[in-house]
Amino acid sequence: MAKLKLGVIVGSNRKESINRKLALALAKLGAGQFEAKLIQIDDLPIYNQDFEQPVPAPVARFKAEVEGSDALLVVTPEHGRSIPAVLKNAIDWGARPWGKTSWPDKPAAVTGTSGGTISTAVVQQHLRAVLGDQGLHLMGGEAYIQFKPELIDADHNVTDESVRGFLQAFIDKFSAFAGKLAGKQVQQAAA
Ligand SMILES: Cc1cc2nc3c(=O)[nH]c(=O)nc-3n(C[C@H](O)[C@H](O)[C@H](O)COP(=O)(O)O)c2cc1C
Repeated sequence: MAKLKLGVIVGSNRKESINRKLALALAKLGAGQFEAKLIQIDDLPIYNQDFEQPVPAPVARFKAEVEGSDALLVVTPEHGRSIPAVLKNAIDWGARPWGKTSWPDKPAAVTGTSGGTISTAVVQQHLRAVLGDQGLHLMGGEAYIQFKPELIDADHNVTDESVRGFLQAFIDKFSAFAGKLAGKQVQQAAA
C-alpha cells in the first residue's frame, strides 16, 4: 500500500532544536504510514514583494517541496507566545506570488514542544488561524509536548512510555486524516 509523502516543517533554525528532535521522533513513529522529508526553511530570504518575479531559488525549491507533499506536519517552538519569524517567513513565501500559493487543500497537523508547562499552546492557536486562512485542512485536537532532557534519544526514540503512546496515537490519527483527504488508502500501524 502506498505511503503518504509527508513534508515536515520545523519552525526552528537552531542546531540543537528540540522541535527538530520531536519532528524526527514523529517521523520514526509514523514510518509505516508516511515517507517523511524535512523541508528546509532556514535558507529562505526574508520575504520581500520586490523579489517575487521570479522567486529566489531557495523559495522555488521550498514551494516545490510543499506542493509535492501529500500532507504537512508543522513542529514548532513558540516565540513570544506566537509564531517564530523563520516559520512565518516560510508561510508567507508559500502563499506568494499572488495566484501561485502552495498551501491550499493540504492536510496538515501542528504540534510543538518547549520546556514550559503550557508548552506551545499559544503558537499552535495562532498557526491554526494563519494556516486555516491559507486553505490548509488542519487536523483537530491538540498536542502540546513539554520537553524534558533525554525525552528523545539519539536514535529519535521517545523514551517516556506515556509520551510515546500519545505521539503514536497522534501520528496514527494524522495518517488516517491525511489519507482520507489525499484520497489514498494508507497502511495503518500494527496494533
Ligand atoms: C525569542 C524567544 C522567545 C521564546 N518565547 C517562548 C514562548 O513564548 N513560550 C515558550 O514556551 N517558550 C519560549 N521560548 C523558549 C523556547 O521554547 C526554547 O528556546 C526552545 O528550545 C525553542 O525550541 P527549539 O529548541 O526547537 O528552537 C522562547 C525562546 C526564544 C529564543
